[in-house]
Amino acid sequence: MTRRPLVAGNWKMNGLQASIGELKRIVEGAQSLGDVDLIVCPPATLIAGFAAAVRGTRVCVGGQDCSTQPAGAYTGDISAEMLRDAGATAVIVGHSERRHYHGETDAIVRAKAIAAQRAGLLAIVCIGETRAERDRGQARRVVSGQLDRSLPDTSKDIVVAYEPVWAIGTGLTPTPDDVSAMHGLIRERLSARFAEAGHAVRILYGGSVKPANAKALLALENVDGALVGGASLYAGEFLAIAGVYR
Ligand code: PGA
Repeated sequence: MTRRPLVAGNWKMNGLQASIGELKRIVEGAQSLGDVDLIVCPPATLIAGFAAAVRGTRVCVGGQDCSTQPAGAYTGDISAEMLRDAGATAVIVGHSERRHYHGETDAIVRAKAIAAQRAGLLAIVCIGETRAERDRGQARRVVSGQLDRSLPDTSKDIVVAYEPVWAIGTGLTPTPDDVSAMHGLIRERLSARFAEAGHAVRILYGGSVKPANAKALLALENVDGALVGGASLYAGEFLAIAGVYR
């Protein structure tokens, strides 16, 4: 089973209209990359502008979150349909910052993933254990539970991102053996649940992916790409990470 690699950049709450220059550098540099899908997920205010700027290129644009609902009285929320309408083709759901700062449960994350499927967006579903959970020897159990409860009933348009919370924005990463073991576990559970279709689901690693460690992390079995935070804000770093697939 060959899965086309995917490198997605999560800009988080960073970026202004002037950041279009960085996007243009990504689009420019992407021309010489190998077989890899690229998605830039800017803040919602930039999605329409970015989507217009990448039209006809190999770079796609995604959201960082979506509502479970298609429309209605939900002040401040943005639906998957609205993201799609603005030109996004993907959305991150269940990022640990959403889970932590906004109290998103697995059930909410699952409803958001279903909303993304409904709107025709690729859903990048994030899971990952905290430092305390890992130290207590619970990482496998926590990640398995999150995976089981956060995924919809079909794997259509689903990407899983394994992001240990303690690796996000810290410069720390698990050892290659730990990443392999966790991605292997996720693959097993995807296959058990979705049969053949579970083999086709891409599993990204996220958490302090940088140009310096990308090669080692992305070469591991069942690591089908990366979800990149801090480094994705710089075209040169983002392209260097995706350049692993040259
Ligand atoms: P980081 O963030 O690459 O800055 O660690 C990853 C993420 O939050 O997706």
